[in-house]
Amino acid sequence: MESSDLGEGSISTVDLKGAHLLLSRIGGEVYAVDGTCTHEEADLGLGFVVEDRIVCPLHLSQFELKTGNVVNPPATVSLKNYPVRVTDGTIFIEV
Ligand code: FES
Repeated sequence: MESSDLGEGSISTVDLKGAHLLLSRIGGEVYAVDGTCTHEEADLGLGFVVEDRIVCPLHLSQFELKTGNVVNPPATVSLKNYPVRVTDGTIFIEV
């Protein structure tokens, strides 16, 4: 995926090596976390961004996009996060 396709504060999902990932750009940096809610497996790509958090579309749990940390219930388990690097405008994710 091209880095320029991901605007500030936006999200996008990608399926890579069997993982469903949620990409975001926060403060100019690109982040990747699991794209499936840890509560009841909703697709977080259908959620919405509030500041630096993704809000689950199903029961409104919130997770930090930078770290995957859960910050609002009912989910209690954080999302896994993945190392990201951007080289020559292309996003690379270590899965
Ligand atoms: S499925 Fe995400 S909060 Fe319930």
